[in-house]
This record gives sequence, C-alpha cells and structure tokens, in this order.
Amino acid sequence: MCLLAAWGQGPQTTDVARIEGSVALLVALTLVLRRVVPCRGRGDPEFCRARPGTYVVGRGFAWTEGTSARLYERLRGPPVNPLRATDDRGDPRLHGLGRERSLSLTYAQRSGNTLVLGAPGSGKTFWIGSLIEQDIACGQCVLVLDPKGDRELERKMRGGAQRHGRPYVYFHLGHPAHSCRFDALSEANRTSELASRIVRLLPASDGSSPFVAFSWMVLEAIGEGLRLQGEPITLATLHRHVLERGRTLAASMLEERVRQRGPFPQLHVSRGRARSSQENQEAWFASLVAAYRRDRCTEPTIDKILAVAEHDLGHYGKMVATLLPLLGGLTSGELRGLLSPEEGSDPRPIWNIDLLCRPGTVAYIGLDTLADPFVGQAVGSLFLGELAALAARRYAHGQDADPVQVYVDEAGETAGTALIQLLNKGRGGGFHLTLCLQTLSDLAARLGGEAPARVVVGNTTQLVVFRVRDGFTQRFCSEQFGREDVPVARVARTISRGRDSQGHGHRSGSHSRSVGAERRERIPPDLLGTLPTGHFIASLAGGRLVKARTLSTPPT
Ligand SMILES: Nc1ncnc2c1ncn2[C@@H]1O[C@H](COP(=O)(O)OP(=O)(O)OP(=O)(O)O)[C@@H](O)[C@H]1O
Ligand SMILES: [Mg+2]
Repeated sequence: MCLLAAWGQGPQTTDVARIEGSVALLVALTLVLRRVVPCRGRGDPEFCRARPGTYVVGRGFAWTEGTSARLYERLRGPPVNPLRATDDRGDPRLHGLGRERSLSLTYAQRSGNTLVLGAPGSGKTFWIGSLIEQDIACGQCVLVLDPKGDRELERKMRGGAQRHGRPYVYFHLGHPAHSCRFDALSEANRTSELASRIVRLLPASDGSSPFVAFSWMVLEAIGEGLRLQGEPITLATLHRHVLERGRTLAASMLEERVRQRGPFPQLHVSRGRARSSQENQEAWFASLVAAYRRDRCTEPTIDKILAVAEHDLGHYGKMVATLLPLLGGLTSGELRGLLSPEEGSDPRPIWNIDLLCRPGTVAYIGLDTLADPFVGQAVGSLFLGELAALAARRYAHGQDADPVQVYVDEAGETAGTALIQLLNKGRGGGFHLTLCLQTLSDLAARLGGEAPARVVVGNTTQLVVFRVRDGFTQRFCSEQFGREDVPVARVARTISRGRDSQGHGHRSGSHSRSVGAERRERIPPDLLGTLPTGHFIASLAGGRLVKARTLSTPPT
C-alpha cells in the first residue's frame, strides 16, 4: 500500500523515487505470485522451491526432541472414535506435531539404499513416482522394475522423459509388440558367473542339490564353448545346446581343433555323410573324438564340453530335468525375441544393461507377474543379476561411475541373491536402490528366513514407512526409529482408616503428583497402522527422523 502510495504521488516525487517504487512493487508481486500460482508443468509449488541438486521428499516436519513427548501427551487424552479414523484421515493425533514445511535432500545424501514399507494402497508407488519425476528432471539415469505393472507410474515416467527430452526405454513382458528387446545375458565377466546367475533361478537353488551343481557344470561348459567359438551367449543358444547335450558345439570345436593340429585325418565317416542320418552323425562325432584323443594335446574347454557331450543320455536327462523347463520357459513364444535378441528384420530396438545405465536414460521394466509369476520373477532376477555384474565390473575397474537410480517396486517378487549382491556392492558402482515392500514377512518368506531378510534391511540406510498393519513390521520399524525419554506424570493416592484411643473412627489420605521420565519408543508401533494414505514416517540420511506426506506430482 505504501509502495502504491509512493508510486502514485505524482509530480512531487522525483523520477528516481518512482523507479525505485516500481521495482520494489514488481519484486513484491513476483514473490506473491510464486507462492500462489504453481510453476508451469511442475504441479505442487513446493517442487519449485527445491534448489538445484536437491529433491523434495514431501511436506512435513522434523521429529525432534520433544515431538514424542507431545505425541504421548495426546495419546493420554480421550481415544479417537475408530469410525472416524479412516485410511484417508488416519489418527488425527499424529498430525500437527510440528511446523510443516517442504523437506528436501541433496543427491549427495542419497548415496545409500532406501527401504520403503507400507500396506497395499498406502502410497508407496505414488511416492517413488514423485521422486522419479524429480530424478528425470535432474538428468539422472532411472531404472524402474515394476512387477505388478502400475499404469500411473509408467505414464509419469514416459511423460517426464518426453518433457525433459530424455531417452525412454519401455520393456514389458505383457506387451511384447510395444516393448523393446533386452539382452538378458550381455554382462558377464566370466561364464561361471553367468551359469551361477541362471541356476539361482532353479527351484531349491541353494547349490547343495546335485541337480543344481550338474546344471551349473553344463551351462558353464556350454558358455565357455560358445565364447571360444565366438558365438553369442543368449538364453536361446544355451537352451539349444543344453537340449542336444552340447554335441553340435563339441563337434564343431573338435573339428576346428583337429584341423589346426595338421592335415585333417581320414575319418570313418565323411562330413557330408554325417548329416544324412543320426547314426552317421554319431559315427562322425566318435571319429572326431578319437582323432582329438590320439593327438594327446588336451584343451580344457574341449574337455569340459566333452564331459557333457559324452555323459550317459539317460542320466543327463534326469539331471537337467529342472534346467530345461526353465530355459524353455524363458525362450518360448514372444519371450525368445524379447530376451534373446538377434540382429535382423525385427524393428524393435535392442538394449543391454550397459546402454540402459547411461546418464539420463529412463527405463521402465514391466514384469507382468500377475499374469505369469514364474517368468516375471525369473526375468526380474536376471535383470538384477545383470545390474550386479555391471556394478562388480565398475567396482573392479574403479570407474568413476555416473549415478543410477534403481527403483524396485514390490521387491518381494524379485528378491534373491542378485538383489543382496546389488545392495552390498552397488554403491561402489554408483547404484542407489529404492526397494518397496508391503511387509517384512513377504521378504522373509521369499528369501527363506528372517536372517537373509535382515541382511537386505541392514544394507539400507534410509527407511520410509507408510501405513503398516503387520505386527512384526510395525515393531521392527518402531525399533529402527529409536527410543527416547518422555516425561510421564506419576500420581500417587493413599487413603487409610483407623480408630483413636476413644474408639472414634477416622480417615486420612495423601495425594502426590510427580513428573518423571520413561524411556519409550519415539513412535509407538501400533500408531504406524493409523497413518493416512500418502503419509509416512522416515529415517533419512544422517539419522534425521521426519513425518511427512507425499506432495501431488507434476501433471503430464
Ligand atoms: N499423496 C497422495 N496424494 C494423492 N493420492 C495419493 C497419494 N498417495 C497415494 N495416493 C493414491 O492412493 C492410491 C494408492 O497408492 P499407491 O498405488 O501408491 O499404493 P501402494 O502402497 O503402492 O499400494 P500397493 O502395495 O498395492 O502397490 C493411488 O490411487 C494413489 O494415486
Ligand atoms: Mg504399489
């Protein structure tokens, strides 16, 4: 008002004063507009206030000393009408315990892994969606593994990539026609590691079973053979050679070897005749083996493949009885083209993990586990195995790796050794994982016990907890948030009755009130079951505890 008055004072004010007044008015108007009008294309105005290199986790307050005391004081008050505490409102006593503001972190603070826990529909995917959109805006490489197939999340990612001009990769097992192709075995430092990755997908794959050990031996030998012959190692080539006991591969390796050693010997059957019948084929193979053995110059890779190719057929069939259906499942129908891509007329682009992890790339991997859990979980584990192998290579070579934000929704579906490896070693390779889970019991069931589940949890540095109803998960989270001394009022009342020497009855009493301190959970476990949808309590980097809610995200 004063500024307007000064501006409008006409000829008596000097030109300099008028200009100063106009500038001040303009600045004031801009500040007001920035508060009132959301930034174009950025949804909630809170996002606009995030400084470059930072991201907003939500709007809320820091859970400082004294917050728990205020909470316990409210909890001692009248109980909440259970009919009013819906999922959308939650327990009102949790709100307004501190002054709300926009809570942001720097990307440097997101160097560890994050675990997000919450019951179905509590807001986990919505929250990671808001983080992903900010990552895309910042030019980070973002990979998302979505077992269930959340359309809203995919739409947000596609829209974000388009808005900011980032390469967008869409892979979906349920929509092969629109999906890109992905080489699921492109990153392998050694064939032994590749074989381990595949046998981990077998049922009872703890390595102790003779079937698993045999399958590993077969895959390793065939993988080595393919590498030596310069042929691509894909799920399809492995499947073909496992089906034929590695005999075609062994024959071509032997032929090359025998030829290298000098003039090609006279064999019982000619190469041309070998193709004519199964019998001739066997005779041609036996002649090659005999020629190789006569030479007495062994080659480890050929010996390995011969051990497979000469294995008793009946016994071999029994030992690979679980491996063959797995490889068959991953290479049947549309999956063959999607996971074992070959250059050719197929117009769908081919991606591998190295290309996906380039700066700025945005990749959505839909696993469609609702339709086919077996294949979806296997492909998810293969994808995580590729990431773990890339992390190991980056780590070993000491490469200055660009950060990659990996989000694994419904992590219980894909949890396994690859995920644990990635959580352990990923940080050195620039990978930051965010895992979403409904309950810890899901994870324990999938990993085969509470101990491996605790390994996963122990490898995360940030814990974000939405509404959780499972008692074990509630107690675990409350324990992670810590304990503190909260004031408790102690009231003592005594009443005594007696008679004096004349036999008159009398009463006496005392009432005392004192305030002491008691060590309690900072956040009581059962309260975590009353958080409204979209609200969370988080232990962030540096041990900062906050209570916040997800901000609405930018429109597409
Ligand atoms: N902060 C929010 N503002 C508005 N809507 C929200 C918010 N958080 C969540 N929602 C809505 O709540 C619903 C459930 O959220 P979401 O899908 O994120 O739950 P979830 O925890 O991932 O569940 P599930 O475990 O079943 O996948 C969605 O429709 C989502 O749009
Ligand atoms: Mg979800």
